[in-house]
Amino acid sequence: MLDQIKEHIIEVEKFQADSAEAVEQFRIKYLGKKGVLNDLFLAFKDVPNQEKKAFGQTLNELKTKAQEKVDTLKEALEQKEDNAGSGIDLTMSSEPMRLGSRHPLSIVKNEIIEIFARLGFTISEGPEIEDDWHNFSALNLPDEHPARDMQDTFFIQRDPDYLLRTHTSSVQVRFMEKNKAPIRTISPGRVFRNEAISARAHCIFHQIEGLYVDENVSFADLKQTLLHFAQEFFGKETEIRLRPSYFPFTEPSAEVDISCNICKGDGCNICKYTGWVEILGCGMVDPNVLDNCGIDSKKYTGFAFGMGVERITMLKYQIKDLRFFFENDVRFLEQFTSA
Ligand code: DAH
Repeated sequence: MLDQIKEHIIEVEKFQADSAEAVEQFRIKYLGKKGVLNDLFLAFKDVPNQEKKAFGQTLNELKTKAQEKVDTLKEALEQKEDNAGSGIDLTMSSEPMRLGSRHPLSIVKNEIIEIFARLGFTISEGPEIEDDWHNFSALNLPDEHPARDMQDTFFIQRDPDYLLRTHTSSVQVRFMEKNKAPIRTISPGRVFRNEAISARAHCIFHQIEGLYVDENVSFADLKQTLLHFAQEFFGKETEIRLRPSYFPFTEPSAEVDISCNICKGDGCNICKYTGWVEILGCGMVDPNVLDNCGIDSKKYTGFAFGMGVERITMLKYQIKDLRFFFENDVRFLEQFTSA
């Protein structure tokens, strides 16, 4: 008989249930009116006297264990129900959500836009599939002009009058056609050139074009505007240097270098040991271009400039390979935060 009770104890200890119904069955089986415990208590009076003590103790142990089991199982089930009803999603990951970050090219583009916006420049945009007039002819590059070869162009096969724009200078044409002077605008956008992809070149990249047209705009205004930009973007101690250059749409034309912000002029591999790095092309808008776009070149003059966003970003963050920008490796992208 004692062994029988001990077996019950083991069974009670092992018992598990995941429904209220199963717990109730268990309760009835052990603690109910016709349950195991009642039967055993009834049998108690027939137990020989010398065994009564041990029998009674074990029986009480079984009773407490059965009651405790019922209580804990009920409590666990109630808690489970509470959680389900409280809106807490227990299947949700405990890992915090990772926030995305801006692409370094967007960060730099926005910074450049902000600097020029503070000078009163508005933003303008144009199509990426452009016609010959806006990409070339209006910019003083008529058919057969040798300078067309400066930019390897993707033409649209069905109609070679259409192409993927090779520069954002096309937007200055569109803007001048639609707006009257005075004009102050910058045009950020994606451009395309048929170039082999390498650490320093890509067939898709980004430019920001600037255009300022008014009465009496001079080369000194151009130089001062670009100095202001360079110092705002690269730091107050930055110097600029203009080298004579050639672009069909500007006369005179120049390329602009900034003093190397990495070695401060001592010489390093970024500035190829010259102390200077090129950042953009610029010049006074050629009067032909103004006339092509319906602006009176006798009354108005203007300056324009164009810079590569990848190049400026590489200089700012000392990135050595342009291909990083297009691979979208999160480990690369998440290193940049906007100011
Ligand atoms: N469009 C030129 C290029 O892609 C950059 C440029 C140079 C733009 C001089 C200009 C400019 O507006 O005045 O290489």
